[in-house]
Amino acid sequence: MKIYIKTYGCQMNERDSEAMAAVLIDKGHEIVTDEKIADVLLFNTCSVRDSAERKAAGKVGILKRLKKIKPDIFIGILGCMAQRKGDELLKELPHVDFVLGTDQIGRLPEIIEREAKKREKISYTETTSDLIQGLGQHIIKNKISEFISIMRGCDMFCSYCIVPYVRGREKSRPQEDIVIEAEKIVSLGIKEITLLGQNVSAYGLDQRANTRPENSPLAELLYKLNNINGLERIRFASPHPYFFNDKLINAIADLPKVCNSIHLPIQSGSDKILKQMNRRYDTAIYMDTINKLKAKVPDITFSTDIIVAFPGETNEDFLASKDLMNEVGVDNAYIFKYSPREGTPAAKSGDQIPTSVKEERHQILLSDLAVRTTKHNKALEGRTFDILVEGPSKRNAERWTGRTTTNKVTIFDPIQNIKPGDLVKVKIDRSTSMTLFGEII
Ligand code: SAH
Ligand code: SF4
Ligand code: F3S
Repeated sequence: MKIYIKTYGCQMNERDSEAMAAVLIDKGHEIVTDEKIADVLLFNTCSVRDSAERKAAGKVGILKRLKKIKPDIFIGILGCMAQRKGDELLKELPHVDFVLGTDQIGRLPEIIEREAKKREKISYTETTSDLIQGLGQHIIKNKISEFISIMRGCDMFCSYCIVPYVRGREKSRPQEDIVIEAEKIVSLGIKEITLLGQNVSAYGLDQRANTRPENSPLAELLYKLNNINGLERIRFASPHPYFFNDKLINAIADLPKVCNSIHLPIQSGSDKILKQMNRRYDTAIYMDTINKLKAKVPDITFSTDIIVAFPGETNEDFLASKDLMNEVGVDNAYIFKYSPREGTPAAKSGDQIPTSVKEERHQILLSDLAVRTTKHNKALEGRTFDILVEGPSKRNAERWTGRTTTNKVTIFDPIQNIKPGDLVKVKIDRSTSMTLFGEII
């Protein structure tokens, strides 16, 4: 069958979609990018903000017309929104054939091959404490960079977040399986891997006590992966500051392949709000980690996630977020407007912030970020960096693109025989807030 897959949401979802595609290809199906020629249409959805759910529901809604013309097509909703809404989706969108929750995506081939013929409406949203089998497959063609999911779920229950409800309890994969998976994709040409988990710094700590742990199974995994010949770079996302301890900091500082760019979600710069968010760290703990990393890792850059207009956020709280981002020197940020999620504690708060204020605070942080990164990038002009080559730039195929270990996108003229995956030295001569430009030396 011809199968179309559309993915919303985070990198975990992208990774799941790729693994599902690989499994389906193995079974003899074909993945297509044109929905009009597809026999099966799959939507891997996200619930983290209301806008993400509306996007997916809107897209699936439009397919009603296609289903009228081609009643034999089979439409499935997978992932977080499927988990959250279950049967309800079959009522809201009657042209949808099946709904598969986050722990049930392993059943996809069976459903497509067997159940599709019966044409009964299906909704599977049972959760399990087992890891889903068969999600370690990859599609490696003309790629140098790849994700590996090392754990699923989240046990943190931040007061705004739907993830623990839709992705279930934390489950870590065995270290050996991850190393074997990494070795395999590196043997196929992958140069950079990004380890994924909703709470990646808690990898391997599934049975944890109620105190900040001193050990770091993630650090141990990084040491193992650093030994893989042919692998150039290792990244990971997203760590929670509570588990970002000295063991992990030392691993990043010690290991040449672990990149000098850390994504560390901050969420707020106000201790009062952090407490209400149930984040389990304060700004002092957060800055202690940042300062240790700055002292040990040369040229390190930071990116973050931050939420503006959490219920009860005063202008003072908001300014504390702005100031903390400045103090860290954040170079890249995912800035979110708080979106109430049904069933989470924060959604019940009476102190919801008006949309106009959300919008205003969002804009202020965005422009502040642009000013700061413009300044940071300007300071890199004249310097030379190792760039991992990705290939021709999307905007102008005559120029090529790659990244520094600090995750700065760099544009340069290609030289003869250059290929994706090469490491080249580029001297920076110009920059913008988003990009460095230079020449290979
Ligand atoms: N597990 C990761 C990412 C979770 S979702 C982590 O905890 O860091 C990605 C980001 O979405 C979060 O970091 C948070 O900034 C944002 N987010 C989560 N729930 C949200 C909500 N209800 N409204 C707005 N942003 C939200
Ligand atoms: Fe979206 Fe979160 Fe689910 Fe990822 S885990 S798809 S960000 S709701
Ligand atoms: Fe978990 Fe909070 Fe992240 S609930 S997924 S730590 S935003």
